[in-house]
Amino acid sequence: MSAKSRWANEDPETEAIIAQQKREKEEKRRAKAEKQRQLEARKAQAQQDADSQPPNGEPGPPKKRRRLSNDPDAASDHAAVAKIEQEQRQQPTLLRFPVGEWGPCRHVDNFEKLNHIEEGSYGWVSRAKDISTGEIVALKKLKLENSPDGFPVTGLREIQTLMEARHQNVVYLREVVMGNKMDDVFLVMDFHEHDLKALLDEMREPFLPSEIKTVLLQVVGGLEFLHSQWIIHRDLKTSNLLMNNRGEIKIADFGMARYYGDPPPKMTQLVVTLWYRSPELLLGADKYGTEIDMWSIGCVFGELLTKEPLLQGKNEVDQVSKIFALTGPPNSQTWPGFRLLPNAKSLRLPPTSTISSAGNPPLLPRSRFPYLTNAGLSLMSALLALNPASRPTARQCLDHQYFKEDPRPKPREMFPTFPSKAGMEKRRRHQTPEAPKRGQEAPELDFAGVFGGAPGGDTGEVGAGFSLRLG
Ligand SMILES: Nc1ncnc2c1ncn2[C@@H]1O[C@H](COP(=O)(O)OP(=O)(O)OP(=O)(O)O)[C@@H](O)[C@H]1O
Ligand SMILES: [Mg+2]
Repeated sequence: MSAKSRWANEDPETEAIIAQQKREKEEKRRAKAEKQRQLEARKAQAQQDADSQPPNGEPGPPKKRRRLSNDPDAASDHAAVAKIEQEQRQQPTLLRFPVGEWGPCRHVDNFEKLNHIEEGSYGWVSRAKDISTGEIVALKKLKLENSPDGFPVTGLREIQTLMEARHQNVVYLREVVMGNKMDDVFLVMDFHEHDLKALLDEMREPFLPSEIKTVLLQVVGGLEFLHSQWIIHRDLKTSNLLMNNRGEIKIADFGMARYYGDPPPKMTQLVVTLWYRSPELLLGADKYGTEIDMWSIGCVFGELLTKEPLLQGKNEVDQVSKIFALTGPPNSQTWPGFRLLPNAKSLRLPPTSTISSAGNPPLLPRSRFPYLTNAGLSLMSALLALNPASRPTARQCLDHQYFKEDPRPKPREMFPTFPSKAGMEKRRRHQTPEAPKRGQEAPELDFAGVFGGAPGGDTGEVGAGFSLRLG
């Protein structure tokens, strides 16, 4: 029962006014308490949000509101907030480091396959459309079938090195998507209209010297970046160099790529497609470095000049003999220590094994590259030096006189465009050797026949059958 005013009986009007005043007072008190409660709740929420804020500045997932108190009284809320603040002051401060984002891969159904481009040793590549954005991409399905122990390390390497290799001359890996099975793994990359191999096959005339410089500068620019990131590509060849219709070159196919160190770790010799494989790998070196990529660049350079692969060996022994036919055989001056390489023991060198021409590394025979300037020939000779230590680094290559003399590199915008096979139809399968199979042991090789007569050579049964050209 409500307390009556002592004036109640005497003045009902006054009584009503007093009651009204009481209600208003009560309402004000409630509103004040409510305001206070809201204030405290906001403060607590702000504190909670700050705690859950990830270091990249994006809002964290919504959290449950922290319950401050059962007591609606604002005073106890105050106490609760004060207690939390005190606890937080006592807690050690956590150092926060940026972390990569994790999330489930999208499904390959998000892409509509348009046409098949190519089947290589490690994957099937197709042109596809991202259904949500309409963008055209290249989808490479990794071949993981020979991996009974789960996801193979080589597949992981391809993904990891490509993710790290963000450069304008390296193909851009957009994301990895999955099919229905665990081993349906697809790389989604930017699509580029050509690979240099297919393009050279289709072109009537080779590139102009100014165009070759533009292509080479981009390839070596991308490679310099990879090497600076401690990545060796280990399968550079024209079919792994993509080009778009804006004259941009992208290094692709990181199926063989891996990180290396200083000093280099022991690594398999069975890398790099035969025609682009360096002599130290062929002679069995298991410690090698970025120089093997520079050798491949020399082979690509030669191929750009003539449209034909430079050194088309039929097998390892034949490859070595074709190399020596071009460079002259090694000797202890041009390549100190080559005799220590495992396969060099069986190598029988001709008695006339002298330096083929002045200079170290020796200049390659001009007759093989009649249209190349002296600077061009000196660069080619350095890239194809038998001794890996004599080859230029990617940086030194970029600074070479060849790129500074006339004709100057053609601006990319001026590059001709070519009809794209990959854009519309299946490409012609090139008659080139495949990349080595991953995880295989390097075969034991007998190089006794490199200089004629003995096992090995062109067919693997007869000798290399070539006469060594010196000078
Ligand atoms: N992003 C891309 N855009 C357009 N075409 C591409 C792209 N990536 C690859 N290709 C085409 O697919 C071919 C095979 O791709 P890739 O070299 O990555 O596969 P692979 O199986 O490792 O090949 P291989 O073992 O034959 O070298 C390339 O030579 C090129 O023609
Ligand atoms: Mg390839």
